[in-house]
Amino acid sequence: MKKTIVNLCRLLLGVVFILSGFVKAVDPLGTLYKMQDYLLAMHLGKWLPDMALLAFAVGLAALEFCLGIFLLFAIRRRATSRVIAVILSIMTPLTLWLALANPISDCGCFGDALVLTNWQTFWKNIILLAAAITVVKWPLEMFRFVSKSNQWIVINYSMLFILVISGWSLYDRPQFDFRPYQEGTDLRKGWTQMMEGNESPYADFFIEKADDGEDITEQVLNNEGYTFLLVAPWLEKADDSQLDLINQIYEYAKDNGYLFYGLTASGETGINRWRDITGAEYPFCLTDGTTLKTIIRSNPGLLLLKDGTVIRKWSHNRLPNEYDLTSPLDELEIGQAPDNTTTRHIVEVMLWFVLPLAILSVTDRLWMWTKWIRKQHNSNCIYKKETKMRKKIVAGNWKMNMNLQDGVALAKELNETLKAEKPNCGVVICTPFIHLASIAQFLDQNIIGLGAENCADKEKGAFTGEVSAEMVKSTGAQYVILGHSERREYYKETPEILKEKVLLAQKNDLKVIFCIGESLEEREAGKQNEVVKAELEGSVFNLSEEDFRKIVIAYEPIWAIGTGKTATAEQAEEIHAYIRSIIAEKYGQAVADDTTILYGGSCKASNAPELFAKPDIDGGLIGGASLKAADFKGIIDAFK
Ligand code: PGA
Repeated sequence: MKKTIVNLCRLLLGVVFILSGFVKAVDPLGTLYKMQDYLLAMHLGKWLPDMALLAFAVGLAALEFCLGIFLLFAIRRRATSRVIAVILSIMTPLTLWLALANPISDCGCFGDALVLTNWQTFWKNIILLAAAITVVKWPLEMFRFVSKSNQWIVINYSMLFILVISGWSLYDRPQFDFRPYQEGTDLRKGWTQMMEGNESPYADFFIEKADDGEDITEQVLNNEGYTFLLVAPWLEKADDSQLDLINQIYEYAKDNGYLFYGLTASGETGINRWRDITGAEYPFCLTDGTTLKTIIRSNPGLLLLKDGTVIRKWSHNRLPNEYDLTSPLDELEIGQAPDNTTTRHIVEVMLWFVLPLAILSVTDRLWMWTKWIRKQHNSNCIYKKETKMRKKIVAGNWKMNMNLQDGVALAKELNETLKAEKPNCGVVICTPFIHLASIAQFLDQNIIGLGAENCADKEKGAFTGEVSAEMVKSTGAQYVILGHSERREYYKETPEILKEKVLLAQKNDLKVIFCIGESLEEREAGKQNEVVKAELEGSVFNLSEEDFRKIVIAYEPIWAIGTGKTATAEQAEEIHAYIRSIIAEKYGQAVADDTTILYGGSCKASNAPELFAKPDIDGGLIGGASLKAADFKGIIDAFK
């Protein structure tokens, strides 16, 4: 249920962001005009240059589009959903202000493609914000269409695609035209309806001769045949690089008896300046500036009407030239109404963007599926002894031996030896408290971990002589031995006390090496299994699976510690296997398979290889033999 809701929210947000980014990228100038309206409404009109606003418009479109794609493809799920939530939590109050103050009638979220009222926009944002909060809360519930290793293709391709769309729209004109002057529009009909008093987008459409103010709208629209309209909202800012081509088109129109007018909102000075610069001879008419910006996103741009219907639009970068205008328009392709350009553009977008990504997703899923099948096949064929290599460790327990100088010297020697010859297992040394800070200064903890032999069962305070887990951690140590039989016996550490110690150690991010093991009498009475089980249950089986996974177990039969009497490899393996089985009972086989279980008790270089060769013995906790670098190294080498 949760998964379904999160994925529905993701779909909704993804689609909305993609659409919103796409329609903006298709018409960056439209976004620019909208932003100018906003700035004007906030009395900040003159603060930002048009170029900066245009760059922002392109960036905004790319950001929205890419965020939508990332969400849809579940790329960087956490970061993407957070960024979307932040954007929406800024936009929602802003749109509330728009709805209340109404400085602009339409927010421009979807360009001209979908015009919403300010209140509709606000409620739309409330819904999107709720969806964004949902995906932020459970980002990992979003399933992937493309695996992580192939996501870079989607990222780069989407960015490139949307920037190319913006760039092309600026160079040419919007590929998708959602405004009321798109190719194929019968202006004559629209204008007549408006004149009859019907609601119409052409209310501000008028054409007045610049010299005498005569309104010739009706005349232009009712002209049977072709009319060229050169649309330049502001002649002062119009691009004059194509002036020769424009003059040639005018000559061509004159020769063929077509009407040709320049339409602008600039006054007389602007028109005269343009005439001076370009040598324009065509007549100029005045039209509303906003209407001109709506007609074509190019300054100047060219419009071709046939019997009052818009049949072609060209930006100044793509004007028809002498090779296109070879004969009268009714004999040329450009003189005919084009086929449905919207459908063609939709097909182009599909072919260039949607199809490659769809192919990528399908290939990727197939690849993942075959990988999965291969894995299944392998795991069925191969005899599964261990599903995963758990960590092998040799840990030293110095106990109460060596003063600071000797301890530092031993640690230095070990450090140098193991740096020169990298061990094949994890190595840890657990030292008296007073050694820790000095050793931490030089020990290469990528090779040798450092730990304490104990820590207090209290967090802090008036406990004279005790050392807390936090203090141990602050020395630079990472490990702590807890539950050693010597602490249980001589210092009366009960399972309850040890439970507290384990919790405090983990709270301070120390890895616990937890010791268990039976006495000689218990072994002789055949109670070893019972004893180790009770010790685990008493102090560590209360942990969550996640915390238990951080524990290393050390099985140390008390009768073997410091006595020279080792448990045989078979004896040790038997009880190690039993310990693993009760871990499996409590936490499941996977956790049991991953838990490192060390053997301790008179372990030395001579018996280590046999012990460590057993499948359930993952290394050792070494007392006496850890006090000399050579002896300890001999045990570590058992893993070679
Ligand atoms: P030992 O001690 O190797 O000297 O027997 C092991 C231990 O107590 O951890």
